[in-house]
Amino acid sequence: MALLPDAPIETMADHLAAGGGEGLENAIALDPDEVIAEITESGLRGRGGAGFPTGAKWASVSGQPDLGDVYLVCNAAEGEPGTYKDRALIAANPFQLVEGVLIAAYAIGARGAVIAVKARHTHHVARLEQAIDAAVAAGWRGADRVELVTGPDEYLFGEEKAMLEVIEGKNPMPRILPPYMQGLFATMDRPNPTAVNNVETLSHVACILRDGAAAWRSEGTEGAPGTLVFTVTGDVPRPGVYELPLGTSLRTLICELAGAEEPRWIISGTSNTVITPDLLDLPMDFDSFAEAGTGLGSGGFVVYGADRDPVQVTTALAEFLAVESCGQCNACQLGTAAMADHLHALDEGRGGPEDLEGIRGWLPHVTDANRCYLPVGAQLTIGSMLDEFGEAFAARAAGAGAVPAEHRAPVPKIESLTEGHATFDPDYHRKRRDWSYADEG
Ligand SMILES: Cc1cc2nc3c(=O)[nH]c(=O)nc-3n(C[C@H](O)[C@H](O)[C@H](O)COP(=O)(O)O)c2cc1C
Ligand code: SF4
Repeated sequence: MALLPDAPIETMADHLAAGGGEGLENAIALDPDEVIAEITESGLRGRGGAGFPTGAKWASVSGQPDLGDVYLVCNAAEGEPGTYKDRALIAANPFQLVEGVLIAAYAIGARGAVIAVKARHTHHVARLEQAIDAAVAAGWRGADRVELVTGPDEYLFGEEKAMLEVIEGKNPMPRILPPYMQGLFATMDRPNPTAVNNVETLSHVACILRDGAAAWRSEGTEGAPGTLVFTVTGDVPRPGVYELPLGTSLRTLICELAGAEEPRWIISGTSNTVITPDLLDLPMDFDSFAEAGTGLGSGGFVVYGADRDPVQVTTALAEFLAVESCGQCNACQLGTAAMADHLHALDEGRGGPEDLEGIRGWLPHVTDANRCYLPVGAQLTIGSMLDEFGEAFAARAAGAGAVPAEHRAPVPKIESLTEGHATFDPDYHRKRRDWSYADEG
């Protein structure tokens, strides 16, 4: 049932030999509504960060011809810090993903489908081109209406409303209405409802239609069925991508598989509250994490060990969010920048209690009139670090010295993750808040 094969599937012939293609065949033997019903029955929840039920998303865009054309977009941007699973899936089996895209497009009655990926990820762009060409050559239904669009490196490219803008040839600035209300190439008369789904979500779709919803549900929990492809990086001896049934404990992943000995804290990207070691026995599923006051995000965990400094790490993550904010909403632009500035002052040893007050003052307001979820991530990440590590922040505000250089941690924007070794984007520290890059040195 696993999404990730033991070795990469190199060709369409290999994919077909491993049972590939059967999901699409089974799907087109059904009515589109029946395919949506099968996905609803499977309980599949989106793997892009919010865990939204995929069947409900598809039902919301299909069967309304008076609203214009329907489109399917596969979100392959993978911009969340600490996440690498979509690239792992594309590298391992892009044919499975294209199959899932075609099943989804058939189910919702899409006029066309787009797979949107960062131009920077050249290997993954090439693998996707290879799989789309092979699907066309194999005569897979709808394959000639799948387009590959490459986009910029910005975090917001992965935000679904910004992704539609990029596909339309514009900058990654989130529009106001969600994709089901204002989809691709929408006009006033024709809103063109669009479904945006993550790479992993659509890869699961191919398996569900191949094996049936009931069989697929045999892994995972009642409320979160199936497996999830987790990423672990940071202070662990075995960073990597691990596919596990949902409901597996966080301890199994972080300590047993990745080998962390004494994690001081863990983050699941920059969109959720910090995870402390007392939560290690939490089952990894959407609802258990929500009940514990945090979130699974896209399953990318970054582990911080005893030598790390909460003030320095919070500063790096806050600067990332300030840099990536697009500035369309005043509170987000001003608040993320102000909080990052206060944190820099504390981190560099020139701060005081007024900086802590400044951050606390912005936290409830940074989300005011927000078009997208980025400032909510800032509120949760910065606010929870302040709450959990209040003493460390207070000590720095009282003049305690900065952390030594060797213990500073960069923004965990993963560049590569192979053979148990992760690298983070080596140029990110040069990115400015206007999205230009400072010169080297
Ligand atoms: C700032 C920001 C960045 C995001 N980046 C990604 C991303 O890189 N990949 C992704 O699949 N979803 C990303 N999302 C979530 C998408 O907006 C969207 O919810 C997701 O693609 C839906 O797919 P799913 O229903 O299959 O989970 C991001 C959201 C925000 C607010
Ligand atoms: S909330 Fe922030 S990142 Fe999102 S659209 Fe507004 S300014 Fe841009």
